[in-house]
Formats: sequence, C-alpha cells, structure tokens
Amino acid sequence: MKKKVLSVALSAAMVASLAATMNVQAEEDLIVVGYAQVGAESDWRTANTESFKSTFTEENGYKLIFDDAQQKQENQIKAIRSFIQQDVDYIVVAPVVETGWETVLEEAKEAGIPVILSDRQMQVTDDSLYECWVGGNFIKEGEDAGNWLAKYLEDQGRGDEEINIVTIQGTIGASAQVGRTEGVGNIVKEHENWKMLDMQSGEFTQAKGQEVMESFLKSYDDIDVVICENDNEAFGAIDAIKAAGKTCGPDGDIIVISFDAVKAAFESMIAGDLNATFECNPLHGPRVAEIIQKLEAGEEVEKIQYVDESYFDTSMDLEAIMAERAY
Ligand code: AHR
Repeated sequence: MKKKVLSVALSAAMVASLAATMNVQAEEDLIVVGYAQVGAESDWRTANTESFKSTFTEENGYKLIFDDAQQKQENQIKAIRSFIQQDVDYIVVAPVVETGWETVLEEAKEAGIPVILSDRQMQVTDDSLYECWVGGNFIKEGEDAGNWLAKYLEDQGRGDEEINIVTIQGTIGASAQVGRTEGVGNIVKEHENWKMLDMQSGEFTQAKGQEVMESFLKSYDDIDVVICENDNEAFGAIDAIKAAGKTCGPDGDIIVISFDAVKAAFESMIAGDLNATFECNPLHGPRVAEIIQKLEAGEEVEKIQYVDESYFDTSMDLEAIMAERAY
C-alpha cells in the first residue's frame, strides 16, 4: 500500500515538474475567463476572436471559455449565465447592442464575478455593474470620416457641389453603429450642400451590405457617396455598384468610405474600389489581459479606455502600410 502511495506521489511530482519545464500551469492555477463574443460577421470580428484565443492560452496562465453568440443578444445573455454557473474568474463581453443588460450583470455581480466590456459599450444606470470598458471611439471615427470627405471634395473642387450621401449602417443599437452614425451626422449638419438620402442597416455583413446598396441604387440614381459602417459592408456595396454598371473609388462615380481597416480593405483601395477606411482596432486580447492582471494585483483600472486609431486612403503608400499590419 505504502509503495502505491509513494508511486502516486512520485508521478504527481513528475507531472508538475514536466509541466513547469513546458511552462504549462496546473489547471487549478489558471485564471478562467469566459468571453461572450458577438459572432463572426466580419473580418474585424475574426481578428478580434483570434486576438483573444492567442492571448488567453494555458501557456499564458488562462483557461478561455469562448462563446459565439451569432449576433443575438439572447445568446450572449445565455452565455453569461453559463459562465456564472461555471464560476469563472472573469467575464468579458463584447455586447451585440448597448441596452438590456442590467439583470444579467446584477446576477454576475451577486456571484462576485467581475465583468469587463470590450469593443462595444453597454448603457446601464449603475456603472458598478462592470469593471471597465476598452475599445474604439466610434463617434470620433464617424467625425473623422466626415471631415475626410469634406477635405477630399474640397481638394477635387467639389466643395460647393450638391452631394448626395447614403449610409449602410451596422447592427442597429450596437455602439459601433450608434457612434459612427452620430459622428458622420455631426459633420453632415455642418454642410448645407450635403444631403443624407437614406440610411439602412447592413448588419455589418458583406451579403447584407450588397443587398442594401442594390436597393439604394434602384431608389436613387444620383448617389455621390456611400458610407459603409464597416469594411465588409463596403465590399458588398462595391459588388452592387459594379453589378449596376457604375464605378466607384477615386476614379469612379461613387465615393466609398468604410470603417475597420482590415487587410481586405487595403486590397480594395489598392484595386481602386474603396476610397478610405477609418481604423477600428480589434486587437483587444492583450489589453483585456493587462486589465485582468491589474485586477489580480488589486490595482485600480481606468473605467473607460479608448484605443488609438488612424485612417488610410488611396493617397498613401498602402502596400508598405499593409505589410506592417497584423490584421
Ligand atoms: O464593434 C466593432 C464592429 O463590429 C466592427 O466595425 C465590425 O466590423 C464588427 O462587426
């Protein structure tokens, strides 16, 4: 009997030492993180998922429980409840929409599980329901796009021309939609000669972006600009414009502007289809890990954390910039 106990103890010690050599931590020492992801609707989202999966690894001291909500809030609420049941150490949410979260966040608070918001925000009356948020400044992104358009038109000698704009919005009620629509709208108001003809949701997908643009092109024959609230919608809109026998980009009939700045958007600008894209940085995995490490160390974290973002257009050396980018 004694022999058996000794051999079990020896094997456990060997496993622990092997794990230490391989830099793998014991299961019970891992920080368990549940990530309630929006879905897989865009290239941006794929890069965001990859950023979390490559950061929250066992080698880095984490166990990640990943849930894809397929763009449905009810799925995200179910995922958060399942994380609570599994008694995870942290819950991270990229909320599909901004409202409707109070009840489930109160359940997480009661269970003593800190919630970190990433990418999109939540509107809650009690902001102690979450630790902090990290993401892009969507209103600023929209205003930057509007100001870029004003300068572009001015440079082309079209500053005083009547300009007809359509917008393919993101998922209605998502921070990225709310902020970008508001930001662009702020600049449209400053230009009496700009007219927003129509706005419809393309749900941040290429297929829906194409569908919405097809319907805009049938309704309006004098569109000068299409604002797409993400790159994937722009890819769909470009297909619709070409299928309708029109052209787009710097030498075309319709100016196309989008948000995200994913690799395929650079390719589209290089091909002469897309005019400009306003960056929304998806690499939140390391940022959320840094927040968790601070919380683990008992440090304060800033409640609202905006990330730096830029923009890119066809006047730049896009090949060189693209070669340096991670997504
Ligand atoms: O919330 C960020 C937005 O969501 C990105 O712009 C879009 O591509 C994604 O679906």
